[in-house]
Amino acid sequence: MDNFVTEVTAAADVVRDETLVPSYYSRKTTDILHKYGPGPRVHFHVGLFDTGSAPNTTVSQSMLRRRLFDSQETALAHAAQAWNVAENPPAQLFDIGCGLGGGSIYWAQEYGCSVTAITVTAKHVPVMAELVRQAGVEDLVTPVLGDIHDLREEQTYDAAVAIESSGYMDRERLFSVVAKALKPGGWFGIQEHFLCRPEWTTFIDGYYKTRLGTLPEYIAAARSAGFTLEQDEDLTDRVAEFWVQSMAWTTAELDRVEHSDAASPISADRLLESALAHSKLFRVWRDHAVETRQLLFRLEGR
Ligand SMILES: C[S@@+](CC[C@H](N)C(=O)[O-])C[C@H]1O[C@@H](n2cnc3c(N)ncnc32)[C@H](O)[C@@H]1O
Repeated sequence: MDNFVTEVTAAADVVRDETLVPSYYSRKTTDILHKYGPGPRVHFHVGLFDTGSAPNTTVSQSMLRRRLFDSQETALAHAAQAWNVAENPPAQLFDIGCGLGGGSIYWAQEYGCSVTAITVTAKHVPVMAELVRQAGVEDLVTPVLGDIHDLREEQTYDAAVAIESSGYMDRERLFSVVAKALKPGGWFGIQEHFLCRPEWTTFIDGYYKTRLGTLPEYIAAARSAGFTLEQDEDLTDRVAEFWVQSMAWTTAELDRVEHSDAASPISADRLLESALAHSKLFRVWRDHAVETRQLLFRLEGR
């Protein structure tokens, strides 16, 4: 009987509600545009600050928003440099879990890549299509609605990127489908958060609806799909300040709503929850209980 209970519990643990992530992101689309917009490059991932510098947070809310955006673009520029994109731009790039497409537009505008961008969130697609149109890169960026786990493409892309999206995915399936979709010698660049202290799993996965993993878990899944790890850079210390700046934006938003007739598309309850969560996130990153890393995997072949 004890064994039966254990097996049932284990099975329940791995059954996931497939609507959880798309419905979470559908609800969040307006909030993301409000906080990180107006675009056309709208990113929803952490950004990088210089270590040792803590920019003043008692500045205008628009300055804070600008800083968040700049730090996100710094993260992409950092990845581009590490992954040698300027010298060897991938003609066909796959942007996995593209959000509102800020990264896809970035790779197209900065490096001329032809980008196929997939998201599981239906509401993102028309918003992204409009941002792509505003950016003038309709000929280069194609938004696609789909679940990466169901991908069937073969030898289509020179490279793939997953910027803070792999944490929503089953890593064995992710690496296996991406290995098939890449051309021989293709690379897969990832920026993601990795669990170091398991006691924070419930808080972070509950807040972001993720299923974060550990670095060894990623490396094992990648290896069994035929990838070799070429780069592993710890960005945690450069990310920690992002939570402070983001929290400052959120408290400024609360003040704005409280002291004027202005409304926010983000509910006051969510803003309060976010401010509290951010204070924890900062400490979690400062203590390296979770780490943000930038990885580069390569398939054999060229
Ligand atoms: C934190 S956002 C990252 C957005 C984007 N990469 C960026 O840099 O702005 C995570 C994204 O992953 C997408 N996603 C989550 N699970 C997915 C899946 N199974 N297949 C495709 N996209 C998925 C979500 O819809 C969302 O767009």
